[in-house]
Amino acid sequence: MKKHCVLVSGGAGYIGSHTAVELVEAGYDVVIADNLSNSEITAVEGVRRITGVEVPFVEVDCCDREALRTKLFDRYAFDSAIHFAAFKAVNESVQKPLEYYRNNLTSFMNILDLMRATGRPNILFSSSCTVYGEPDRQPVTEETPRKPATSPYGNTKQMCEDILRDTVNASEGMKGIALRYFNPIGAHPSALIGELPRGVPQNLVPYITQTAAGLRECLSVFGDDYPTPDGSNIRDYIDVVDLARAHVAAIRRLIEGKNRSAYEIFNIGTGNGVSVLELVHRFEQANGLKLNYRIAGRRAGDIIAIWADPTRANEELGWRAERDLDDTLRAAWAWEKHLRGIE
Ligand code: NAD
Ligand code: WQD
Repeated sequence: MKKHCVLVSGGAGYIGSHTAVELVEAGYDVVIADNLSNSEITAVEGVRRITGVEVPFVEVDCCDREALRTKLFDRYAFDSAIHFAAFKAVNESVQKPLEYYRNNLTSFMNILDLMRATGRPNILFSSSCTVYGEPDRQPVTEETPRKPATSPYGNTKQMCEDILRDTVNASEGMKGIALRYFNPIGAHPSALIGELPRGVPQNLVPYITQTAAGLRECLSVFGDDYPTPDGSNIRDYIDVVDLARAHVAAIRRLIEGKNRSAYEIFNIGTGNGVSVLELVHRFEQANGLKLNYRIAGRRAGDIIAIWADPTRANEELGWRAERDLDDTLRAAWAWEKHLRGIE
């Protein structure tokens, strides 16, 4: 029987490459499309090495509708797409709003429009817990109201969710799911793929691993005077392999027609809130090293605390986060060592 094929746009990136691996290992054909604007071809090579499958790669800008049609839609027989391709740096989006609106909205609308025009029904969109802003109550469920976005990046996530909802509702046979990721961290246990931050990392775990590797002198913990038990911010850190598997479960739901409505939303998190200071200490313990860190002032725009209620994903997708946080932090460090050639 012919295997179901899934387009992974942005599949050379951090989450996309891990998802490509999990899809292949679950028995799907995969085609990766990416313009390598924030990734390297080595990630695709890593996917091929891990899976032993020569996964096809198409270098294409998803903002170029004509190129998408000729290089991808005319050539590959996929019925499902997972759209990861986007710019994702919150601060940069404040400096370069037009670039963010253009890239994140145009790329998604092109994929969506071509899926609709060519009769391909299933689409998953990478959304984010950023759509909740600073929540009034924890943990957040999918019914927790979205707050007005505080950055152009966050705004593109809200807008793309709405574009997906309206499009599938208006298009007979189309189905869409928005997965709201909490904070993805870690790397594949093979250490062949992982996160590749450009320049100074803005995110906590890459900053931690680069500090441990000696690339950065000292981690700044942004604030210890928040109204939380230890004063530092709380997040829901989810292993990237667990996150990747949530996509496999969501694709399966759409293929099997188990979705309850044309458009659905799922929180993809562990359900556990972990503070910055706890995470730093867990990293030290899991890897048997000491991290140079200091308490610094608050970072503008940070949410005090947010973690997921993942019940809907647990029950409806039959998925749950399984990886132990210590294993995740060991995998993050193994990946950094692999990148830097540290034994
Ligand atoms: P990433 O930057 O590693 O991956 C995105 C990939 O998309 C990159 O390989 C980049 O080259 C590609 N890309 C960007 N614009 C493109 C375009 N116009 N055409 C083709 N390819 C393009 O980021 P990631 O962390 O893997 O994030 C993937 C998705 O998940 C993004 O949509 C991001 O907003 C979302 N997300 C990420 C996080 C996170 O913390 N990493 C959290 C929530 C949501
Ligand atoms: C986590 C915690 C920082 C760096 C961002 C986006 C969000 C989503 C996930 C895409 C915070 C603290 C960090 C450092 C620190 N992405 N920190 N020192 O801010 O929760 O979310 O990524 O959708 O939209 O905003 O993640 O990793 O930047 O920070 O103390 O050097 O670590 O203050 O409390 P964040 P993060």
